[in-house]
Amino acid sequence: MNAKEISLEEVKVKPVVDHLNDLLANYHIHYQKLRGCHWNVKGTSFFTLHLKFEEMYTAALVTIDELAERILSLGKPPISTFKDYIETSSIKETQTIGLKDTLMVKAIIDDLAALIKMEREILTITADAGDDGTNDMINRFMQFNEKNTWMLRSFVNED
Ligand SMILES: [Fe+2]
Repeated sequence: MNAKEISLEEVKVKPVVDHLNDLLANYHIHYQKLRGCHWNVKGTSFFTLHLKFEEMYTAALVTIDELAERILSLGKPPISTFKDYIETSSIKETQTIGLKDTLMVKAIIDDLAALIKMEREILTITADAGDDGTNDMINRFMQFNEKNTWMLRSFVNED
């Protein structure tokens, strides 16, 4: 499929797709980090964080699928190998075994900051491309990340 089938200009959609594939890679690394935190968290906050990380990785999984299917809707293939995700992602993997619970939360806060920054950039690019569908979707993801930044920062007592 070509972007013009949904009334978008191919040349303007190219940077959108490239950025969506970058974001997809970053979400995969973020997702696996959340799973590691969910599994390996220890301490008095276990029940709180174990559940919170599960809520977040479940949301990330839905986001990943929406991103990949949006890329397909724009007429291009989503990247789909771990090799590509690791090579493409600017968010890096974190060893969660033995990691203190508050450091897990801080690692996730850092991921969210990186994702929000990428999402803001995509909002500008999609606005330029007239791609309101992608713009709306990314805006939702960004709002989710903004809200969770507030909650996680409150958890670790940061303003
Ligand atoms: Fe579980």
